[in-house]
Amino acid sequence: MKILAVGDLVGTAGLKKFEKEYKEIKEKENIDFCIVNAENVAEGMGITEKAFQTLLKMKVDCITMGNHTWGKKDIFNFIDNPKLIRPANYSKNNPGKGYQIFHCKDKRIAVINLIGRVTMNVLSENPCTVAEDIIEKIKNNVDIIIIDFHAEATAEKIALAYFLDGKVTAVFGTHTHVQTADEKILKNGTGYITDIGMTGPKDSVIGMNKEASIKRFLTSLPERYKIADGEAFLNGCIFEINDEKCRVTDIKRININ
Ligand code: FE2
Repeated sequence: MKILAVGDLVGTAGLKKFEKEYKEIKEKENIDFCIVNAENVAEGMGITEKAFQTLLKMKVDCITMGNHTWGKKDIFNFIDNPKLIRPANYSKNNPGKGYQIFHCKDKRIAVINLIGRVTMNVLSENPCTVAEDIIEKIKNNVDIIIIDFHAEATAEKIALAYFLDGKVTAVFGTHTHVQTADEKILKNGTGYITDIGMTGPKDSVIGMNKEASIKRFLTSLPERYKIADGEAFLNGCIFEINDEKCRVTDIKRININ
């Protein structure tokens, strides 16, 4: 079983890059299941119905979100689609689901989306305890558990992975838009990478226009962020999972210019 996780699609350029590369990656790498983080696909903030439909047409298996989940009101039209999940540690009365269970080949795959609490400016429940509760509830009914932890702080991501080591198949981070080179299999078998990176404009500050971003940091004055122009790159990660024990045997970072 090979699971591809694609890093945060940023804007139309990110979506187009993914559309261009997905078929080839899928065939070349024998991908069975694909998870895409799409919380920035609507010009950096949220997801539109059009982008969501494009991803469904491409037969993406699971779409995850993050701090910009509610960035576009469109999402309320399709929030209950079983292929879409938003952070599970949002308030209990929020619409949508924080995890879903999928069937792929002869396996049951649970994907859980979580959001960090360090410098995320989002009111959320504790991701560790929320994850623990979900795992307890589903562990006897699934073969594989994958977590997209959408968080800023590396320490928070690493700590959550160690906390869940041996209880889940893999934990990958999203949100920083910068791919980290720390992929590893932890002592009790959980595959882990701090951030799988982004799929968005190359010549940018994490997907945003460079000039606007520099001006913000230079002057400390409010400057509206805008998506950068130009070509995009694709970042992601492939988790190879053993069919018998459902453990990660290999983690491969993807970086396509
Ligand atoms: Fe984010």
